[in-house]
Amino acid sequence: MTPEQIALVQQSFSKVAPISEAASVLFYDRLFEVAPSVRAMFPEDMTEQRKKLMGVLAAVVSGLSNLDSILPAASALARRHIAYGAKAEHYPVVGATLLWTLEKGLGESWTPELATAWRDAYGVLSDYMISEAYGAQPQAAE
Ligand code: HEM
Repeated sequence: MTPEQIALVQQSFSKVAPISEAASVLFYDRLFEVAPSVRAMFPEDMTEQRKKLMGVLAAVVSGLSNLDSILPAASALARRHIAYGAKAEHYPVVGATLLWTLEKGLGESWTPELATAWRDAYGVLSDYMISEAYGAQPQAAE
């Protein structure tokens, strides 16, 4: 990611922070709509889960400019996800749902440049988490 892309992601996330509760509701509602099979992996009451997700996203977004600072926590997070039943193939749908949520939440400030920057940021994180949890995966052809 370029420094400009990192700045775009950080600035846009600061706009989501004030609506993070609503954004996380939107995120999980959408996730369970597009991937109903993962619903049973999560607790019935999603209140705490929503807070944890937004907290980790905030830490990752602020750590993008210093990736080394977040990789140990991302590795541990990825390994915990093995026990949650997460598989490598679940990561793309989570990423698509994240982008969808940001697009809804940011409205007119969502631009193609921002979409690319967020796609790259999620790609960096999820590629790393997948390789830490499951070993390197073959890359899909573009
Ligand atoms: C970059 C992507 C992801 C991030 C940042 C993320 C973040 C988190 C966080 C912060 C938690 C709270 C528990 C903990 O810290 O261990 C969590 C729990 C969970 N995640 Fe993820 N996650 C990601 C991808 C996924 C994927 C792909 C799945 C697959 C469906 C998934 C399924 C779950 C489940 C089932 C739990 C709840 C476990 C429980 O409380 O019993 N996550 N996630």
